[in-house]
Amino acid sequence: MCGIIGYIGKSEATGILLQGLKNLEYRGYDSGGIAVLNRNKLQVVKAKGEIKCLEEKLGKSNLKGSLGIGHTRWATHGKANEINAHPHCSKHFAVVHNGIIENYKEIKESLAMSGITFESETDTEVIPKLLELNYSGDVLQAIRKTVKLLEGSYALGIICTDHMESFYCTKKGSPLIIGIGEDENFIASDINPLLHYTNNAVYMEDGETAEITANHVAVFDSSFAEIKKEIKTIQLHKSAADKGDFEHFMLKEIYEEPAVVKASLHSVTDDGDAVFTDMPFGEADFKNLSRIYIVGCGSAYHVGLIAKYNFEKVAKIPAFAEYAGEFRYADTVIDESCLVIIISQSGETADSLAALKQAKEMGAKTISIVNVPESSIAKMSHYNILTLAGAEVAVATTKAFSCQLCVLNMLCLYIARQRNACTEVFSEIAVNMSRLLPKKIERVLLKADELKTLAKKIKDIDRCFFLGRNVDFGVSLEGALKLKEISYIDCVGYPASELKHGTISLIEKDTVCFGLISSNDLLSKTVSNLTEVTARGARVIVFAPESLAENLGQFETVITYPDSIPFLTPSIEVIPLQLLAYYVAYERGLPIDKPRNLAKSVTVE
Ligand code: M6R
Repeated sequence: MCGIIGYIGKSEATGILLQGLKNLEYRGYDSGGIAVLNRNKLQVVKAKGEIKCLEEKLGKSNLKGSLGIGHTRWATHGKANEINAHPHCSKHFAVVHNGIIENYKEIKESLAMSGITFESETDTEVIPKLLELNYSGDVLQAIRKTVKLLEGSYALGIICTDHMESFYCTKKGSPLIIGIGEDENFIASDINPLLHYTNNAVYMEDGETAEITANHVAVFDSSFAEIKKEIKTIQLHKSAADKGDFEHFMLKEIYEEPAVVKASLHSVTDDGDAVFTDMPFGEADFKNLSRIYIVGCGSAYHVGLIAKYNFEKVAKIPAFAEYAGEFRYADTVIDESCLVIIISQSGETADSLAALKQAKEMGAKTISIVNVPESSIAKMSHYNILTLAGAEVAVATTKAFSCQLCVLNMLCLYIARQRNACTEVFSEIAVNMSRLLPKKIERVLLKADELKTLAKKIKDIDRCFFLGRNVDFGVSLEGALKLKEISYIDCVGYPASELKHGTISLIEKDTVCFGLISSNDLLSKTVSNLTEVTARGARVIVFAPESLAENLGQFETVITYPDSIPFLTPSIEVIPLQLLAYYVAYERGLPIDKPRNLAKSVTVE
């Protein structure tokens, strides 16, 4: 969590760092801060709250200098206040940190015994203090001795007052990229802030440290021997990180869904076939699989849950959706007959990364579905499928979710065909029908006004339920998460069948229940559960394909969407729920792209 940035070059650092922090703000927005070096003196400005608060403060300061580091924080240790904001400093050093130092208490105690005092409650502050203690003129040596003592995860940007011509970075377990410019260089937690300045990047690996000047980058391995790193070309375009004409990133990203779903599907299909080039597992591997685990956090878990039903139905293999944070501690029996599919937009989620590592160590075959190339999960899995959603900035995921779901469905078809579990005809129909998804999603987007009107009607509710069965239960969880994370309404996704076993006692007059019915198979069953809540005074709003509308009976509101085959319908079903969540949060006047307490990338446990 947290975003770090660093700059050295000919320009004034402050503006560049500030712009960079704005691009990284989705990683955390509890506080911000920058340190700029001028004539060997550190100038530090910090502010509680969003980066705009830091910007205001910087307007009143007059920082000068062309070397600096910056930080945007998602608080883990200590309150979200100015004292705990980064950079943290010692006499010679200023440090920005993304990650968690797990043994900071022991280090703090040991340092305190040596008379060293601390200002903040953070884990990070031990780092500049250790650097100071280990420093005798050679910064690389000080870093080497310091990182040896750190347990946990870190990406660090470091400046030292004795060195006006260089700054430093090092990493373990948290992402860090060096942007290579012309007579200027950068560091950042992800590529978004770099896109304004360069398309060339060096991706740092765990244990590596770099010394960066305006014209040169020297990278060292864990034994501090200099190594040669490849400079890679960043594929994303700058406009991906802009809001364009939209008021919020979330809405922009919803409207991008037809295009990114099309691109993602295009990358894994060819002429009626699901195609996964260079797949390291062959027919025999897939035939011999005993089960599949689909693992992720939050929305990525929901993708897995929806797909689980398809894997069982179409690929005829036992499939389990698992929360990564649970899976990693559950002693699940995994062996080489298991396929573990890890889903993650960022590719950096700590729990998902740990689950992947564990599955691999236990011998499982691993495939990841990730939206960020070169991310840790993409690199660690045996095979990575890149979704082509482009940069997703809003904390609430929308377009990445849709890309993950359609790509995972294609993987399901591919595995089903390898196992001879489904016919070529079904596979071809499904691939061809998937090509129509972008147009169908576009048609849902035309319903924005209808959803805006619905949002106005329900905006003041305190609580609601999303009810569905099987795949619709998965979509219910996603609908509930989307609405709750940005509107702060207490939303629960629930299997429609389960309500009567306890939770129905919460239904009273005017409780809002959303009923999700994506196919005829379970229509009558879900309708009867919805009738039960209507009988207890609930307001029921049903989402269903156009062809099923007239079989539903009488409910307060029915929102329809274009039909597809059941295998693909959830990809369309989720879109009105995303729009509804957006418009409800909008009506409530909330910070849609940056909901309270959250961050886009959860790189801590
Ligand atoms: O980057 P990841 O896909 O691994 O992130 C997983 C979750 O943190 C993420 O889906 C989260 O639940 C979203 N805020 C939901 O909108």
